[in-house]
This record gives sequence, structure tokens and C-alpha cells, in this order.
Amino acid sequence: MTSILVFSPDEPEALRYRQLLEAALPGAPIGSASTAKEARPFIADAEIIFGWKFPAGLLGQAASLRWIHKVSAGVEDVVSDPGRPASVRLSRSDGSVIAPRMSEYVLAAIYATNQKLMQAVHQQAGGLWRYYMVDRAAEKTVGIAGLGDIGSAIAAALHKNGMRVVGWRRSKAQPPNGVDRVYSGRAELRDFVSECDFVVSVLPSTEETKNVFDADVFAAMRPDAVFVNIGRGASVDEDALADAITNKRIGGAVLDVFKEEPLPASSLFWGLDRVIITPHVSGPIIPEDVVPFFIENFRRYRSGERLLKEVDLARGY
Ligand SMILES: NC(=O)c1ccc[n+]([C@@H]2O[C@H](COP(=O)([O-])OP(=O)(O)OC[C@H]3O[C@@H](n4cnc5c(N)ncnc54)[C@H](OP(=O)(O)O)[C@@H]3O)[C@@H](O)[C@H]2O)c1
Repeated sequence: MTSILVFSPDEPEALRYRQLLEAALPGAPIGSASTAKEARPFIADAEIIFGWKFPAGLLGQAASLRWIHKVSAGVEDVVSDPGRPASVRLSRSDGSVIAPRMSEYVLAAIYATNQKLMQAVHQQAGGLWRYYMVDRAAEKTVGIAGLGDIGSAIAAALHKNGMRVVGWRRSKAQPPNGVDRVYSGRAELRDFVSECDFVVSVLPSTEETKNVFDADVFAAMRPDAVFVNIGRGASVDEDALADAITNKRIGGAVLDVFKEEPLPASSLFWGLDRVIITPHVSGPIIPEDVVPFFIENFRRYRSGERLLKEVDLARGY
């Protein structure tokens, strides 16, 4: 029988995953762990590791490992794990499952900015009644960097709400529904951001995306444009972003992801009043949402079919 190790550092979550897997795969040997120590009785026999936030060294101990399934859409930690045996396959959750929630986050960021809700909160704190003009989202151009499962679903949601959407991706693929124009490659990144009122990054963290949003790119943005990051902090030169905001070269930022999480107390972002910080909440992983996808992949794995959302390890996403 195919032996599965479920891992999450959050114990109730690990147990929930195990319960759901046991209900869907009766009789399959399934162990669960929340620490490297708890994983020890299962690790040598585990053919599949399911979960996320694996401790350093865990993958290297899995002598029978054939397949890792990550419950998150981001896989950079496993791709770069020196202990991951090269022949082991890696798949991940389908971003489309998380995309409706992430679309709501982006809509909230855009509407809160246009309706100047932060200004309202500040005025209210000071007991100040002062009129200001609000903006219409429907007149805005939003650029989505990363037009994969999540980015294209966000694009469709923004288009449905009347916004003009442009995109930036790695390939020259056809624009997804609702996207007016697609830019691709580093050479077109500045042109892409220069036409946007909002630039939303949903990029994965790879060698190629490291610090793509740098001082040059922020300099090419409009002075009132807002940068929204729900992809990964690794794609942003954070000093350059803080500098662009401080010196009013861009309008501000709504940031859900950072190079270092939790965001350290020393981060410049805490002190910037045109920045909204959220603690990596835009795409929560709900066990009941992601387990059915794994079960379908498990069926495919057992019958030798192509896995869904198998990661291209050379490309990194
Ligand atoms: N904040 C959160 O809670 C949260 C939750 C879920 C996911 N995420 C992040 O969102 C990322 C995207 O997820 P997804 O499911 O949409 O992934 P995906 O379907 O693999 O899409 C990735 C997109 O990024 C583009 N891309 C990759 N490398 C690029 C490069 N060097 N230059 C330009 N574009 C590049 C790809 O271009 P092509 O289309 O040309 O291949 C693709 O459009 C995840 O990797 C994760 O980091 C964050």
C-alpha cells in the first residue's frame, strides 16, 4: 500500500488533513506529524509527503519518497530544498481554488484606495470632518504581473467590475479572458507598469522573478499608482519600494507578502502611512478546499496518469 505522511507545523491542521485523507482513502497507511520528531516513525516508509512548511532535513530522510504534494500554490521552499531527492515529483494545489478569495483581496485593495478609506480612518481618529473627492475603480487600468491560475481569475473579476486589465507574464501566450493586452519578459516590464493605476503582483518566487520589481521599475510607474503584492516578497526590492513610496515616486502599496515573514519590527514599511500591511492572509488554504484536488491527483498517481499541477522543477513554478 502507498504510504502517506501528512505534515503541517499546525497540529490541528495536520490532524484535519489526516482525517480528510483517511475518509477519502480508506485503508491507506496515513501518518501525520507537526514536528520532525513526530515524523520519525513514518518518514522512512513514506512514498508520498502531503502538506507544507516541511522542516529542514525532513525530505532528505524520506528514503522511499516518490512524490511531494504541497497544499499551497507557492513551492519555492521545496524547489530549493537541498534535501529534496532530484527524482521526486512535486505537485501543488490548484491556484484556481484560492483565486476567488485572492480576487476579493485585490478588489478590496483597489476600492479601499479609491474610496480613500485610510484617509477616512485617520480623519475619524482626529474627529475631523473634511470633504475629499473619491475615485471610480471603473476608470482605472490594473496590471496583473503573473497571469497564471490566480492572476487570470483576478483579471476576470476586475474586468467584470469594469476595470481595464493588462498583464505581464513569462510566455507570449494568448491573453486570458478580460485582459486587454499582455506584456512579456523583462524587456517589457517597464512599459507594462507605466500604463497602470494599480500594479498587482501574483508572481511565484523563482530565480528569474527575484527582485524584478526594482528601483527602475518603480521609477517607470505613475506617480499616483499603487503597488499590490500578493505573490511573494522575493520578487520585490523592498528598499527600492520603501524609497519610491517615501519620495512620492509612487502612490503607495498594499502588501500581503514580504521577503521576511513575520515582517520584522525594523522594517521601514511599518512607518509608512501610504502602505497597508496584511500578514499573508490573501490566499488562505482551507483543508476541505484542497484535499479533493489531491485525491484526484492520488488516483492519477496510482494509475500512472499525468499529475495535475506538477511543478516544472527547472523553471521553478
Ligand atoms: N499571498 C498568498 O496567500 C498566496 C496564495 C497563493 C499563491 N500565492 C503566490 O501566487 C503565485 C502564483 O500562483 P498561481 O497558482 O497563479 O501560479 P501559476 O499558475 O504557476 O502562474 C504563475 C504566473 O507567473 C508567471 N511568471 C512566472 N515566472 C515569470 C517571469 N520570470 N516573468 C514573468 N512572469 C512569470 C507565469 O507566466 P506564464 O503564464 O508565461 O507561465 C504565470 O503567468 C504562487 O507561486 C504563490 O507564490 C500567494
